[in-house]
Amino acid sequence: MRYIGSKVSTLPWIAQLIEERAPSAHSVCDPFAGTCTVARHFKARGMRVVTGDLLKVSHVLQIATLGFDTPPSFAALMASGEIRDDSGVHPADAVLSRLQELRTPGGYFEEEFSAAGPAGRMFFSDENARRIDAASAGIASWQQLGLLDEREEAWLRAALILAADRVANTAGTYYAHLKSLGRKALKPLTLRCPPVTAAGSSGGCHNADALEVVTRSHTDVLYLDPPYNERDYARYYHLPDTLARGDAPAASGRSGVPYRQNAASSFYRTAQAGDALSQICAAANARYILVHYTTDGIISHDRIVDSLRCRGEVRFEDRRVRAYSSDRAGGTREAWHRIYWCDVSMEGRVDDAP
Ligand SMILES: C[S@@+](CC[C@H](N)C(=O)[O-])C[C@H]1O[C@@H](n2cnc3c(N)ncnc32)[C@H](O)[C@@H]1O
Repeated sequence: MRYIGSKVSTLPWIAQLIEERAPSAHSVCDPFAGTCTVARHFKARGMRVVTGDLLKVSHVLQIATLGFDTPPSFAALMASGEIRDDSGVHPADAVLSRLQELRTPGGYFEEEFSAAGPAGRMFFSDENARRIDAASAGIASWQQLGLLDEREEAWLRAALILAADRVANTAGTYYAHLKSLGRKALKPLTLRCPPVTAAGSSGGCHNADALEVVTRSHTDVLYLDPPYNERDYARYYHLPDTLARGDAPAASGRSGVPYRQNAASSFYRTAQAGDALSQICAAANARYILVHYTTDGIISHDRIVDSLRCRGEVRFEDRRVRAYSSDRAGGTREAWHRIYWCDVSMEGRVDDAP
């Protein structure tokens, strides 16, 4: 999924730093997990990963890609007779095929987010919007019948979010759609299993403020990747977030961004972001703290160094990277990223939990 601030391109750098400087690390906390790129890498390397994010869409991606070692078996749903039992097909594939076949005319996505609706918000082709509505309604009805547990529901919603993202008529974010249906939007919605790995383990997937997650977790490494500016992710990813919640909020304006009372993040406020980072660094129960930031972000270099210096010795290094930008064209731009590394002083540190 294209995500502002995704660490797909900088992952080799992050991985190399952690592998060289903390070779005996067994656990990582990633409380600004987003699409879980970083946590998935370290789980696949056999580590225990604790993740969190304020956005619900990240939470379902955390559960689907980190909370399972193998795709779910959907025991209750398979026993209910709702799904054809094609021998040889994994239950997860059989469930996705069933969702893929469903059709319900006149749903929320068709009405609000396809050209067929009165607002003309062309985020999806009419046909794909109908398929998204049907799949989302199918998941909700199985959940209401008690045929899915919370984790299975999250896994299916993640599969739907990723499938919808592959056919979204956007340049990347959901803040604007293209003027006419582009090539990817004309492809049919196809549900696939989200990627999972049997290696490593999940130490918890949280839909919570980073401070809360950091305060409650004990890991060798704390990787902090907060937002770099005042643009709230909830506005740019409102459609995946709606699919993650399974609701149908009133859509308004050209983008259809719903009004939600989201938990506010201090990291979107220039006047508060530095204090919020200092609080997290002070609360960290980790041997090593990394802060990944851009050189033109709203928290100043000196403020980041001061936040970390209270915990131990600080070093940093810079790289020029191609970063995905949130402008309307949705292209990439060159930016300087800086990773700060803090070896947390053992003096006065809270003992590691098992
Ligand atoms: C730079 S992105 C992280 C990208 C992620 N590393 C990836 O590769 O996809 C920042 C993330 O922080 C989340 N966020 C913003 N404020 C937060 C807060 N106070 N607590 C937890 N998450 C927050 C946003 O929803 C967003 O997903």
